[in-house]
Amino acid sequence: MPSFNIVVLPGDGIGPEVAAAGVEALKAIGEVYGHTFNFDEKLIGGIAIDERNDPYPADTDAACLAADAVLLGAVGGPKWDLQPKRPEQGLLAVRKSLGLFANLRPMDVAPSQAFRSPLKEDIVSGADMLIVRELTGGLYFGKQTRTETQATDECLYTVAEVERVARVAFEAARKRRNKVTSVDKANVIETSRLWRETIIKLHKAEYSDVELEHALVDSMAMHLVTRPKSFDVIVTENMFGDILSDLASVLPGSIGLLGSASLGATGKGLYEPIHGSAPDIAGKDLANPIGTLKSVSMLLRFSLNLSKEADALDAAIEAVIAAGQLTKDLGGTLPGSEVTKAIVAQIRAGASVAA
Ligand code: NAD
Ligand code: IPM
Ligand code: MN
Repeated sequence: MPSFNIVVLPGDGIGPEVAAAGVEALKAIGEVYGHTFNFDEKLIGGIAIDERNDPYPADTDAACLAADAVLLGAVGGPKWDLQPKRPEQGLLAVRKSLGLFANLRPMDVAPSQAFRSPLKEDIVSGADMLIVRELTGGLYFGKQTRTETQATDECLYTVAEVERVARVAFEAARKRRNKVTSVDKANVIETSRLWRETIIKLHKAEYSDVELEHALVDSMAMHLVTRPKSFDVIVTENMFGDILSDLASVLPGSIGLLGSASLGATGKGLYEPIHGSAPDIAGKDLANPIGTLKSVSMLLRFSLNLSKEADALDAAIEAVIAAGQLTKDLGGTLPGSEVTKAIVAQIRAGASVAA
């Protein structure tokens, strides 16, 4: 019987609630499809600061490096804001340590669910995009300085860093609708000029079959909400990708719906919803688990090569959404744990139909 080692990093706020949903779904998939998932829960973020005075303890790093895949809830919260040691440092550390330079954030709006969007239905219906966010460079990892009266953040990108994430985007586009939109601020920022030139060269040399366009990040923010259907794969640097993906989460109606996969040069990956620790709803069983469950589906697909199981989980999620069994963020009335139960029941029901 195949067996997989999954490190679970629940973190802070709603992190433990949504991570528990992911573990429940994996357990059900294990039972139904005959796989053993060994779960190893480790500390990260604020709770790790509280318990170990370190947002990313060494034993967490060792476990993540040895695991088949890592599932993360969320980190952060007001308790640790503006402290010298911050929960978010733990998240940056795990991404860097595992070399996870490409963060895949898919977003789609099924026509039957377009009415849940705060935007006009005809604008969002059928939108289907993949944001490929560079994850280990740029402002997040540059040198920082600070005195009483000034602060600096260095933004550094190398050609190699741009090329490797651009390849991920071009390869993904070839399996989708064959279009890449590269987002930068090349009219002002030097790293963006390097970004654009590198992408143009790589496109010409290896991916000229893929349609490529460039967009400036400010007007891209506008286009994302006015004509989202015109985008397929979007590739951009770390900070722009962070901001644009939260913006894109408005299209389907809630940030609680979006999952992500962070991948590097190996098959290993870190899987997490794109949302944060949502301190405003933590501990109330209001958190939408679907973003985490979509992340689990990517974990099955990309790190464990279990595409049938990933398809089954996606179908279970879709069935529960179609039945309107939803949390408050999407206009529903169910606690998050009940949505998870409904999805787990669908996993079991789907498997018995297939058998
Ligand atoms: P957030 O994503 O936590 O919350 C933004 C809004 O979306 C809130 O109103 C929240 O209630 C809602 N929301 C988020 N996830 C939801 C879900 N699953 N179901 C229903 N509603 C949901 O962003 P924020 O408030 O700016 O940040 C809070 C903390 O989270 C900060 O400390 C930040 O650093 C951290 N953060 C962590 C991650 C991560 O761990 N990957 C990501 C983003 C922010
Ligand atoms: C995300 C978060 C993180 C980021 C923070 C918490 C470090 O916003 O995963 O989107 O900016 O990458
Ligand atoms: Mn973010």
